[in-house]
Amino acid sequence: MNILILGSGGREHAIAWKLKQSPKTSNIFIAPGNAGTVTVGTNLNIAVNDFDAIADCVRVNNIRMVVVGPEAPLVEGIVDYFRAKPEFAYLKLIGPAKHGARLEGSKEFAKKFMIRNNVPTAKFESFTAESLENGYAFLETLKAPYVLKADGLAGGKGVLILNELSEAKFELKAMLVDAKFGEASSNVVIEEYLDGIEMSVFVLTDGESYQIMPEAKDYKRIGEGDTGLNTGGMGAVSPVSFMNEELRKRIENAVVQTSVNGLKVEKIDYKGFLFIGLMIVDNQPFVIEYNVRMGDPETEVVMPRIKSDLVDHFIACADGNMANSRIEFEENAATTVMLVAEGYPEEYEKGKEMTGFDQTEDCILFHAGTKLENKKIITNGGRILAITGVAENIKDALAKSFGNADRILYEGKYYRKDIGFDLME
Ligand code: AMP
Ligand code: GLY
Repeated sequence: MNILILGSGGREHAIAWKLKQSPKTSNIFIAPGNAGTVTVGTNLNIAVNDFDAIADCVRVNNIRMVVVGPEAPLVEGIVDYFRAKPEFAYLKLIGPAKHGARLEGSKEFAKKFMIRNNVPTAKFESFTAESLENGYAFLETLKAPYVLKADGLAGGKGVLILNELSEAKFELKAMLVDAKFGEASSNVVIEEYLDGIEMSVFVLTDGESYQIMPEAKDYKRIGEGDTGLNTGGMGAVSPVSFMNEELRKRIENAVVQTSVNGLKVEKIDYKGFLFIGLMIVDNQPFVIEYNVRMGDPETEVVMPRIKSDLVDHFIACADGNMANSRIEFEENAATTVMLVAEGYPEEYEKGKEMTGFDQTEDCILFHAGTKLENKKIITNGGRILAITGVAENIKDALAKSFGNADRILYEGKYYRKDIGFDLME
């Protein structure tokens, strides 16, 4: 079958790379794609939020399956758009409809969903400009540090963690009254701080049953030792060494089953990925966020570890048959190191010529912010290239990622040299 993948990052390149390996795949299209996705399919110059143009492309290219990479088109209702048109009844869509996408689109919606469905999470309350004084009073009942979250999508910047009560009050007012994050912060969730270690689990669900994929940990800060500004993710590893059978069972029972059961009892149309961000406190999992898509760069370590056919799993997911579609994974390890532009996540330049691709060996290069210009590969974003190593263990996988990171050259290259530092045995 012909498959369309929406998005342009390393996540979409990794999904395309995995789907390409299936005998059921005929042609892959990626909209808009990057300089890497052209090696597995055809790039189409269509924006992910241009639903009419996407529908035309589905008709013209005889596409049978659409996989939505990023959250924005899901939150804007791309699945509902196609479901409303009978001519697309055959189309297999991977991603939740608009209502379910609110699990990522609204922090308050997600927290209330967790409470209703007994999913363990930090204690919280939410506030608007009208209830600012109540917000101050709630902050006074909590201990430092204070966690403030803009309700809406804020490009990964909407969470503030503050050490002083006065700072927390100041920022709460800036968010609610001065629209610090625009409309996204007209509603703010304040929650209890959880002190633990973070990791993520990824679930493919049809809204009733589910399969759990390999877990991963990403490295969000720009600086070594987890310091400096938050980024989209500077690297990732899978599996995580602190995962044990007991924790795995707790995560499945307390978090995954309760979450999927919530989708089912609330009759939420959800056929796609559910990415659950966890904080593990004393070997107990707490949900800090849901995302309604795969993580990036986590996908670049999860896809290479999946042994079974992803097209089969996607068909089962779209058809509501996930209970009979066992995802199998390899007993190995994968790591990815993200090469970024100098200055990222603040201002940076694009358009730098990249070389050294032919010098790399024994790794998978997943392109993120790259594009082709006059047959040359040039940088086209802050996060540029994810270099994935696969081996028996994390240490050997990292050696492949780092060894090849040195071989790719462009002006202003930066990457963290300590990905996985906290997980080495
Ligand atoms: P989120 O966008 O909800 O994932 O939040 C961004 C980051 O803030 C997370 O990756 C955590 O590192 C941190 N964070 C969020 N909520 C909490 C919490 N309740 N306690 C401690 N850290 C948190
Ligand atoms: N790497 C984190 C995310 O995709 O949200």
